[in-house]
This record gives sequence, C-alpha cells and structure tokens, in this order.
Amino acid sequence: MAGRIPKNFIDDLIARTDIVDVIDSRVKLRKKGKDYRACCPFHNGSNNSSFSVSSDKQFYHCFNCGVSGNVVSFLMDYDGIEFVDAVEVLAEQLSIEVPREDGGQQQTTSYVDRKDLYQLMSDITRFYQQQLRSHKNSEKVINYLKSRGLSGQTAKYFQIGYAPDGWDEVRKKFAVNKQTEQQLIDAGMLISKDSGGSYDRFRDRLMFPIIDRRGRVIGFGGRVFDDTTPKYLNSPETPIFHKGKELYGLYQVKQAEKDVKRILVVEGYMDVVALGQFDINYAVASLGTATTPDHIQLLFRQTSEVICCFDGDSAGRTAAWRALENALPSIQDGRTLRFMFLPDGEDPDSLVQKEGKDFFEKLVDQAMPLSDFLYQQLLSQVDMTSADSKSKLAQLAIPLLTKLPDSVFRQMMETRLISLLGIEKEGLKKLLPAPQVIDKQKKSQKITPMRLAISLLLQQPQMAYQLPEIPEFKEMQIPGLTLLNTLLEICRETPHLSTGLLLEHWRNQPEEKQLITLATWKNQVQEDKYEQVFFDILDNFLSLHLTQRIEFLKQKSRQGEVLTTEETVQLAQLLKEQKQY
Ligand code: UTP
Ligand code: MN
Repeated sequence: MAGRIPKNFIDDLIARTDIVDVIDSRVKLRKKGKDYRACCPFHNGSNNSSFSVSSDKQFYHCFNCGVSGNVVSFLMDYDGIEFVDAVEVLAEQLSIEVPREDGGQQQTTSYVDRKDLYQLMSDITRFYQQQLRSHKNSEKVINYLKSRGLSGQTAKYFQIGYAPDGWDEVRKKFAVNKQTEQQLIDAGMLISKDSGGSYDRFRDRLMFPIIDRRGRVIGFGGRVFDDTTPKYLNSPETPIFHKGKELYGLYQVKQAEKDVKRILVVEGYMDVVALGQFDINYAVASLGTATTPDHIQLLFRQTSEVICCFDGDSAGRTAAWRALENALPSIQDGRTLRFMFLPDGEDPDSLVQKEGKDFFEKLVDQAMPLSDFLYQQLLSQVDMTSADSKSKLAQLAIPLLTKLPDSVFRQMMETRLISLLGIEKEGLKKLLPAPQVIDKQKKSQKITPMRLAISLLLQQPQMAYQLPEIPEFKEMQIPGLTLLNTLLEICRETPHLSTGLLLEHWRNQPEEKQLITLATWKNQVQEDKYEQVFFDILDNFLSLHLTQRIEFLKQKSRQGEVLTTEETVQLAQLLKEQKQY
C-alpha cells in the first residue's frame, strides 16, 4: 500500500496554488478592493457578498455563516471529498504526481489505492452495461425494464446494467491477481470465503450504479427479477461508499441542470429512474436509510428548495417527522423544506406511471411547507380542549423551535406558536432560550494581548519571516505562548507564507478551531499597522519577562538569601535593560 503524502509536499502544493482560481472556477467571484467576494456557497443567505476570498491570505471566510479555511478545506467542503482527494485534485491541476513516503503500514486506504478502486468500479459498471445487451439472459432483463416502463435511453442515462447469474463472473474477469481480488473484496464487489478465495456479491440482478458528486461509481444497488429476498442488495460500507452521506441520483440531477431549483427526495432507486423516464430530473433517493443530517446539508448545498416525498400512511408520517427533526438546524432563511405525501399504496414510480408528469408535478407544487407539517403534527398530539393543552403544546414546540438557527423563519414559527398559545410575545421569551447566533464573530472572544498577537501573525505570517529566535519566550509562562512559539517557528523559516498554508499545519489538531477563529477575527488594527502592533506586543512580553525576573531576584535577596555571583551580575544587567525600555 502507498505511504503517507509528505507534509512538505502538501505545503508546497498549497503555496503553488492560487485559492482565487480554484474557488472562482466553482463559485463566480467578484473583485472587491484587495479581496474577492461572492454569495456564500455553504449557506443560502440573502446577503450575496458575505463570502470573502483573500488572495494575500490564501484563505476564505463567510462573515455570515462563519465557514472559513484554505484551498484544501474549500475543496473538501465544496466538492464533498476527503483530504487526500483534495490534495490529489490540486496536484492534478498542476500536473504533478503526489509522492508517497515509503514504508509504514497504512491503516486507511490511500488515494492511489482508491484511484484504482474507482477505475475498477467504473470498469465493472461498463461490464454490467454490456451484459445487459449481450448476456444470454438479456431478453429477460430487457423485458423487465420494459415492464417497468423504462426506455433504453433511461437505462443508459442511469448506467443501469445486468450482473450475470454466475458465482464468479466479476471475479473471473476482474480479479486478475491477489491484490486486485482484495481490492474487489474491499469495494464490496466480491465476498471472501472462509475456505479462501471469493465469489461475486451481485448475481442475476438489475444493477443501479451509485455515483458520487464527481461522477465516480462508488457502489451498487441490485434488484432481483422476481420475488426472492432481499429485493435489493446494496454495496456494504466501503472505503469509498458511505451510505448515510450519499444520495442516489444526485450526480444525474446536477448533470441535468446547472442551477438546481429544487430537489425531490424519494425512497427508491426505481422511483428516481421512473421519474427520470418522465423528464422529472430532480429526484434523488436516500439509500434505504432515513434522511440523515448529512443528507440535508448536502442537499441544501445544491439547491434552496428540498421536497421530501413519503408514503401517506403512518409509517410515512413517522419517517417525515424524523427528516424534519434532522433538518431543523439547517433551515436558514432562503431555504425551504416541504413534505409531500403520496396517495395510499402508491410510490412515486407507480404514481407517475399511472398519472403522468403533470399530475405528479402538481403534487410536488402542493407539497406541505415545513411550518404547516410541524404544527399539524404537534396539534394532532394535543387535545386543545383540555385545560393543560397549551402548556403541552409549548412543551412539544419549544425544543423543536430551539433547533432552528436565528432567522426570520424562526421568528415566524415563534409568532405562530404565540398565537396558538394565545400569549404575549414576552411570555414566549421567558419560555424560549435565546437563539443560537450563527455568526461566530458575534460570540467574540475576550481580547488579550496573546490572542491579538496570534491573530495578527496568522493574518500576516510574513511579518515573522527570518525573525531571530527569542530565547526568553522559551522560559516564560503566558497562556498561549507555546502556540505562539510554534507559529513563530514556522513563520521564521517559510518565505511567502500565507494564512491558508500556515493553518494547514493544524488540520485536525485540537487548536485548529481556535486558530481559525483568530485568523478571521475582526481586530480593530489597521492592516498597515499590523507589524507595529505585533512587535509592540512581543516587546511587552519581553519587558514582562524582565520585570518578572528582576522581581524574582529582588525577592530572593530580600528574603535574606544570598544571590550567586551570576545572579548578581544578571540583576544589574536586567536593571540596565529595563531602563532602556
Ligand atoms: P421498496 O421496497 O419500496 O422498493 O424499497 P421500490 O423502490 O418500490 O422498488 P420496486 O418498485 O419494487 O422495484 C425502497 C428502497 O429501499 C431500499 C432500496 O433502496 C429501495 O429502493 N431497499 C428495499 C433495500 O435496500 N433492500 C430491500 O430489500 C428493499
Ligand atoms: Mn416501487
């Protein structure tokens, strides 16, 4: 297995990349003064210039929702990829190979291995597609597709294929050596036998490839042609496939439309595909799991309107309620979540086949707003004629409203509760804890000289380039000094150091969060005064050290202890220095 990526390679990569280019190719940036601005891609705000990208700092920051980071963080969050992949994307842009350190058993699959895995998955997808046409069972498969109302074009659009009915069709063709066999086992395509060897996981099934946001096949769902169970067999969790984080069909939705107006969340593979057959190209399916908070976040990154589709029965309502609870923290202004309930016994597939596109889309248009669904469900749990009905309603509603971020929407939800309860606004305030303020800036930290110094240095790291070591800083004890020392050490040795690159040294470290806060801290210092203020603070620390040392020695001699000759000389020296300050 390939080793780790050398740290200095990552530093070099970040140094050679311009964050402005990388972000601009994904989010249109406008120049504003020295920096660039855009509508923040990580939240759906009305303020369309809260997202700022600094070329000097090689760092982005949203004043509204608080996200920030360097070019690697941006790629990870925006493309939804992992660290190693983000590094690979940057290296690809510069047409350079990512080197690997030798040795050291890796526990996680490295990108080089995963890259092969993606290739394998893509080859297998193509193989299944070929089998759909050429296998001896081809007629059965194509008839099945027809019986489900799907055209060849739709099958092709979703890259649907056929996994042949043998125990080792994939194994024979793809497991060319032990290493590849192991990779196919890791990818969930083969199952290893206790007695050694392996066999195909998917046999005689209609295959739906699950494609990630970058267009790579990461897993499959396979349907039987009859009533055997399980009806659908899915890829297990693998290094490249995480069920709770992926949505079937999302890649196709993004392909179909550049600006995705709305996304419909349905339950099954067949629902997505059948809707696609009817030119309803904005449906995705959660992969047999409930809609997770990760799903909701992911969806709202693509669109501002999400409609979750459920069965009309009580199980459907329960599932919808769980989705609602998961979604509440993500409902910022400008985001809409609605709920669509299907007629009894129908799923989106059966309904669209029966009633057609226009009818189906009318139901989508009429989906119930989150606020209506929430209060409808709450009121159904409370007998409004009973004496304690209002306090019961408040008890149920308040924990939910508290999950909402501070927004106009939340205020409207509160107003609705107030009117249901028949109380004054002030009355609710007493019941309701203060909303979570999204803007992290507002939870401002107390300004201490140390915090200010670190904040200034993070924002202009070149200030400390080639700065001589300060031995006193190794002896002193001020909170944060160890961190400042480490920062100084890096800055002292690295020319042209940017904020983004500097912060990379703390990725996944305990101090990362605090450093990011300080890097985006709106201190009151003017930019051309950074150096002066920074070195003033360092001088202050030194003079503090001097005073402490003098006090220590004086105290010692005052207590009747005899100072060593060395100490006496030092005291005289220190007193002289102090005069110079
Ligand atoms: P359904 O049983 O509702 O199937 O499961 P469906 O989507 O209507 O499929 P058809 O129309 O009978 O072909 C909904 C989803 O639940 C997951 C799958 O993701 C499926 O699409 N599921 C269901 C499984 O993972 N395994 C199963 O055995 C059944
Ligand atoms: Mn169905």
